Amino acid sequence: MTPKTRVLLGVTGGIAAYKSPDLVRRLMERGADVQVVMTSAAQRFVSPMTFQAVSGRPTRSDLWDGTAEAAMGHIELARWAEIVLIAPASADFIARLAGGRADDLLCTLCVATEAPIMLAPAMNRIMWANKATQANVDTLIGRGIRILGPASGNQACGEVGAGRMWEPAQLAETLLAPPVNAGLLAGLNVLITAGPTRERLDPVRYLTNRSSGKMGFAVAEAAREAGAHVTVVSGPVQLQTPTGVTRINVESARDMYAAVHRQVGDADIFIAAAAVADFQPVKVAKQKIKKQGGSVQLELEPAPDIIKSVADMAKRPFVVGFAAETNDVEDNARIKLKRKKLDMIAANEVGDGIAFDCEDNTLTVIWPGGKMDVPRGPKVEVARALIALIAKRLPPPDGSPRRGARKRRTAAALPRDRVRGRRPRRV
Ligand code: PMT
Repeated sequence: MTPKTRVLLGVTGGIAAYKSPDLVRRLMERGADVQVVMTSAAQRFVSPMTFQAVSGRPTRSDLWDGTAEAAMGHIELARWAEIVLIAPASADFIARLAGGRADDLLCTLCVATEAPIMLAPAMNRIMWANKATQANVDTLIGRGIRILGPASGNQACGEVGAGRMWEPAQLAETLLAPPVNAGLLAGLNVLITAGPTRERLDPVRYLTNRSSGKMGFAVAEAAREAGAHVTVVSGPVQLQTPTGVTRINVESARDMYAAVHRQVGDADIFIAAAAVADFQPVKVAKQKIKKQGGSVQLELEPAPDIIKSVADMAKRPFVVGFAAETNDVEDNARIKLKRKKLDMIAANEVGDGIAFDCEDNTLTVIWPGGKMDVPRGPKVEVARALIALIAKRLPPPDGSPRRGARKRRTAAALPRDRVRGRRPRRV
């Protein structure tokens, strides 16, 4: 019998709390064991007894309840949970969580747990749009808390807009569906480059490009979901690191080259999604270059080709490149695949409003003897398709000339780890 996923369901004060007993039922139908914890405001909307009846467990609400604490103390409860879901999450609860409060049982549990926390907000549309609420939500996302919803539609207050709690069936499905590609790269070490590089000209100027890092970080997230140990070497970008991913920040192509070569010895797969400079200034001026009336000559030399240097290693990981092309996309990508001796390349059409700094992307993935078009979609979906193709093309563990870490494909992908590895995000 597969063990049940232990879900701690927090219910806070809002009219949507009337849907939460149904949520308990739906979670249990999907094989979860559910422990309900209510705030005192929630008890004004639904009785603790209702939750006790549907969950089969005593509902908890009081941090100072000696009898309940004797049965399972709040710290044990925090450890018991594999997932914490707060549904509905009121504006007040979101604010208290963002403030790190621990003055009632539910807030204390959220502070004391290592389990992933998800919130399903429900409130009046103006309260949801309020700057303070949005700032609190951003704070929570920054801490790795995943926000599910809210949906738009008719509200209990008679208004129409964003603020409805997701329906119980949708919440249960999102919470308990297995991650895409679960276990495909279990136990493997994946090293990824992401973002642009900056090549300094003087203390205040540099050469760079428009890469936002979104594609590389999406690949990191997808590889983590697939069970890999992921390190991302990133140029300067304004992005949150996906949960469970190790991040190394660098600035120039030289820095990225050095960081990659410090890590690559352990890598089974190397994916170069970064837009690395092809050229770097021969000299970096110590002082700001002054205007002197006429034109300025910049002397540039080739920057280190990171992916080629990895592909040239005697014992190399499986090497996947990206080819950013404005024209003859597939032909140019094939030339790079061959010239850089890669195992696979993702041909990426780029241009004004295409790929660079966009939310969506589309790729043609090419390898010796095959190719596959990945249709346009959010970068994380495209990244998941790429990871599935990489997993298919990896050489078998035995007889592989690459580092033997496929042997490490072990029990790393237990359900709890998979859930923890998922990236918190606003859906
Ligand atoms: O970051 P986003 O805004 O999300 O945009 C995504 C992206 C368009 C940057 C990304 O999907 C992409 O196409 N990345 C590769 C960009 C690039 O530099 O392509 P290239 O064709 O110039 O390089 C070919 C390959 O060599 C790439 O894997 C690149 O990382 C690698 N390279 C290039 C130069 C260099 N000095 N060292 C390298 O390792």
